[in-house]
Amino acid sequence: MADYEPILLANVGVENSRSLGVYRARGGYQALAKALKMAPEQIVDEVKDANLRGRGGAGFPAGVKWTFLPKDRTRTYLCVNGDESEPPTFTNRVLIEHDPHQLIEGTIISAYATAAQAAYIYLRVEFHEQFHMLQRAIDEAYAAGLLGKSILGSGYDLECYIHRGAGAYVCGEETGLIESIEGKRGWPRIKPPFPAVEGLFRRPTVVNNVETLCNVVHILNRGADWFKSIGPEGSYGPKLFAVSGPVKRPGCYEGPMTITLRDLIFGDEYAQGMRNGRQVKAVLPGGVSMGVVTGDELDMVMDFSDPVNYGLLGLGTAAAVVIDDATDIRTVLRSVARFFAMESCGQCTQCREGTMWMYKIAKRIEEGAGRLEDLDILEETTGNLGMMPGLSICGLSDGAAFPIRTIVQKFRAEFEEHIRNQKSGSVDLALSAVN
Ligand SMILES: Cc1cc2nc3c(=O)[nH]c(=O)nc-3n(C[C@H](O)[C@H](O)[C@H](O)COP(=O)(O)O)c2cc1C
Ligand code: SF4
Repeated sequence: MADYEPILLANVGVENSRSLGVYRARGGYQALAKALKMAPEQIVDEVKDANLRGRGGAGFPAGVKWTFLPKDRTRTYLCVNGDESEPPTFTNRVLIEHDPHQLIEGTIISAYATAAQAAYIYLRVEFHEQFHMLQRAIDEAYAAGLLGKSILGSGYDLECYIHRGAGAYVCGEETGLIESIEGKRGWPRIKPPFPAVEGLFRRPTVVNNVETLCNVVHILNRGADWFKSIGPEGSYGPKLFAVSGPVKRPGCYEGPMTITLRDLIFGDEYAQGMRNGRQVKAVLPGGVSMGVVTGDELDMVMDFSDPVNYGLLGLGTAAAVVIDDATDIRTVLRSVARFFAMESCGQCTQCREGTMWMYKIAKRIEEGAGRLEDLDILEETTGNLGMMPGLSICGLSDGAAFPIRTIVQKFRAEFEEHIRNQKSGSVDLALSAVN
């Protein structure tokens, strides 16, 4: 999209982009000043009008979520989800690293709109440097009267804390995250009650993703109509995409959600094509948990609706892992299966046992000891675990089912050929050493 002006990444590459002075000189905190003069309900309405859909994976409309908070609440929390543990996803990290004040501004506005007294920004433990960068920015904001008592003289008070995770993927799930902030093991909670009614410390709580809250700043600055002028129907606003794998220019890119996978992989402004003249064999386009598309399905639009037309769970984190034609599909299957088996928290039998069985089968297939019926067993198992058939507490198991099912379905002929030849695949030594 040659004529697209970056919005979320506008400050990336600017010298000292992390500092409050630079952020303010480039128009930062004007949206907050405007917001504090509005009634909180007006902000909720503006975000609802914009139809800002959550960027954390599920695409739930942020403004609508905020209206689920009970009217008579006395204490409210905002949790900012910066866990970003979905494999190949690194867009939140880029926002935190290059423009922490954009996130802080979006957090304060959203906290004000939802009448939250405290905001907890949850960061995965591996974000070590980003934690210090963000903490410095929070300290600057406190010193400038942008956080703490009577923000900008408005009478609105907000405390903001960073909470660091301990390295579990499931802590990105909103109720696992809440448990983790409470100092407990990050086990997702049975819902209902949903966090809006009973969340952190059993109080009404909103959980939103880092990128979602960064978008709030721009909706306040430029309005809902401007936001809806970007992207296709139902998938409005600026969006970050990550591309990794054997492409010429892996990275984090911004654009409207009219972009196709082909644009992202081959576009001059994006990943610029494959390295070493290789072909695209497959892509996991929404992080690993949404499923796989083949090299013939690159016209898929990276919006909230098209991925389901390709058998995927959704857009997910819009982080595309590109797989080239030199890669053994059995290794892809085994890596994905292993991830979910290792990350299942174990509370639900279907998820705990199902992910581990699938991993064992995938490993056996990769090692050249698979049976043709294993492919049917894998497909059948993916239909018998997850929230969608109503059998699990959280969505991790659906996130395991979709990639495994789509890999097996879309590459079945290749699996069958390997199984008939019974030749071992390329085992990833780093991973196999663990097992
Ligand atoms: C296993 C699992 C892991 C998740 N990890 C994340 C994550 O790292 N970051 C995130 O924002 N949402 C994650 N989510 C989604 C959250 O539960 C929640 O929907 C999201 O934070 C809401 O923010 P949003 O509405 O702004 O997208 C995860 C969900 C599941 C089931
Ligand atoms: S679905 Fe899996 S990860 Fe989620 S609560 Fe159940 S066992 Fe834990």
